Amino acid sequence: MINGGLSALHACLAETEQVDGVMLGRAAYHDPYLLHRLDRALFEPQRDLLSRGELLRHLQPYAESQLASGVALKHLTRHLLGLFAGQPGGRQYRQILSEQAPRVGSDWSVVENALNAVEVLQGKAA
Ligand SMILES: Cc1cc2nc3c(=O)[nH]c(=O)nc-3n(C[C@H](O)[C@H](O)[C@H](O)COP(=O)(O)O)c2cc1C
Repeated sequence: MINGGLSALHACLAETEQVDGVMLGRAAYHDPYLLHRLDRALFEPQRDLLSRGELLRHLQPYAESQLASGVALKHLTRHLLGLFAGQPGGRQYRQILSEQAPRVGSDWSVVENALNAVEVLQGKAA
């Protein structure tokens, strides 16, 4: 198992030729989409990638269940801030989540707002 300093897909895949596994710390925060790209490359290379927006919407049932059990939205969205890093609209996405998620009573609509901002800027479904 290797741990530390890995952030590029090709570097992670190259390491798996030598070791059983690759551990990611900071990259999972800075670029969580990397986890999906790695998952596909390692386990389901024949399947197309889902978009960032699709992945985010798949999270909604889990997020709703957490909100219903009293978890604050900001504790969920802090792990999602990097999802659109380096993408058009990524800054607006991050800004909306950062500003609106900490508000008392905020719900999934904040995530939808952030995603809509990306989709408007990208002119298509993200
Ligand atoms: C958000 C975050 C949480 C982490 N939590 C743990 C932890 O619970 N236990 C642990 O041994 N290391 C933890 N680490 C350290 C990582 O496993 C790893 O050793 C370190 O981040 C270096 O790898 P990186 O270059 O991929 O970040 C954490 C790192 C980050 C960024």
